[in-house]
Amino acid sequence: MALLPIVKVGDDILRQVAKPVEKVTKKRKKLVKDMIETMYEADGVGLAAPQIGLSERIIVIDVGEGPFALFNPEIKDAKGSAIDVEGCLSVPGEKSYVKRAANVVVEALNEDEKPLRLEADGLLARCLQHEIDHLDGILFIDKAE
Ligand code: NI
Repeated sequence: MALLPIVKVGDDILRQVAKPVEKVTKKRKKLVKDMIETMYEADGVGLAAPQIGLSERIIVIDVGEGPFALFNPEIKDAKGSAIDVEGCLSVPGEKSYVKRAANVVVEALNEDEKPLRLEADGLLARCLQHEIDHLDGILFIDKAE
């Protein structure tokens, strides 16, 4: 495994709409392992591929229940609202309150390229929305209260 440099705010790649993944190749599976390692090293709970300089729709998350990767994640349903503090590994030192949906339903492909559907609330729901925003070039500071 390898640690990857994390791209910081000001870099154009963080503002691009990332490309969908067509195939979960061996290379991408290895990349996901490196992203998880990088996320842990930086004390984060989520990381999106544009943050390591790759404009592809890949995110990794671990909110304390073990790491997982999602390819081409999409929010299919969102309900309620919740305000809480967020930070981002690409925006060091900044924390802000951000209003998000309280509950989300996300569809994606897993590492075996199988479709999955995830219902989330609490920190996981927040983290999914934050990371999926990264794939559309959106940062939490854009939505800060
Ligand atoms: Ni972030």
